[in-house]
Amino acid sequence: MSPKNISKAPIGIFDSGYGGLTILSEIRRALPQYDYIYLGDNARAPYGTRSFEIVYRFTLEAVQYLFDQGCQLVILACNTASAKALRTIQQKDLPHIDPNRRVLGVIRPTVEILENITHNGHIGLLGTPGTINSQSYTAEVAKLYPQYTVYGQACPLWVPLIENHEINSEGTNFFVKKYIDELLAQSNLIDTVILGCTHYPLLYPFIRKHLPEHINILSQGQLVANSLKDYLQRHPEIEQRCSLNGQCTFLTTESSQKFTETATFFLQDTITAQQIELG
Ligand code: DGL
Repeated sequence: MSPKNISKAPIGIFDSGYGGLTILSEIRRALPQYDYIYLGDNARAPYGTRSFEIVYRFTLEAVQYLFDQGCQLVILACNTASAKALRTIQQKDLPHIDPNRRVLGVIRPTVEILENITHNGHIGLLGTPGTINSQSYTAEVAKLYPQYTVYGQACPLWVPLIENHEINSEGTNFFVKKYIDELLAQSNLIDTVILGCTHYPLLYPFIRKHLPEHINILSQGQLVANSLKDYLQRHPEIEQRCSLNGQCTFLTTESSQKFTETATFFLQDTITAQQIELG
């Protein structure tokens, strides 16, 4: 098939809710030429306290929906979905659905970069209960850097605070401090903290305020964007199937008006969302 005949489609970006917007905006900054479809399953967020089976089923439904829109490449811009669903989708589902399409997650690129950030290998990890309990980060770190130690801290209330528009409330400050204190109580050696949930950069000012200055905060947007750029360079067979009009479509399973307002606020850019149904 000549490149002219290859059908091209947007890159799919999926999250349970608004968190993946922090990844999308960095990806669009690094790779503005491509088209994107952002899908937030806001009606069923948060995923972080849900079981393995449910997160897997919801994520597969979202991936299938994005494939139905033509996407050849889908990024799970969600740590919980990456931790609980990515491997099964890659190994079990993709070979049946379409072995030529790709689904990528956010955990591997985050772990890969650690050696450039940490000085002593003591890594704090803030994430949803699902991500922390899955031990996915610990396993991935053990593969690449067996000498490092990961201290996981679940922050079950942070995503609900963001999804419920409580980002600037006193309660948010209280709960950010509470989980950071619990993380720091695990070790005084931590020199790097991973924001292991794509919602958490939206809490960055609170998180920075409560973490000692010498601790590096690793936020995923830019590093996932760099990793995607690198991936597309190394995989021309996928890159050729990505359309190039610089457009982004926003889909949500919740009210489109609510998503439009919140996403416009988070992205500081006027967007319009459409409501869709999954499942
Ligand atoms: N942004 C998702 C993540 O990175 C949030 C998960 C949730 O919905 O609880 O884990």
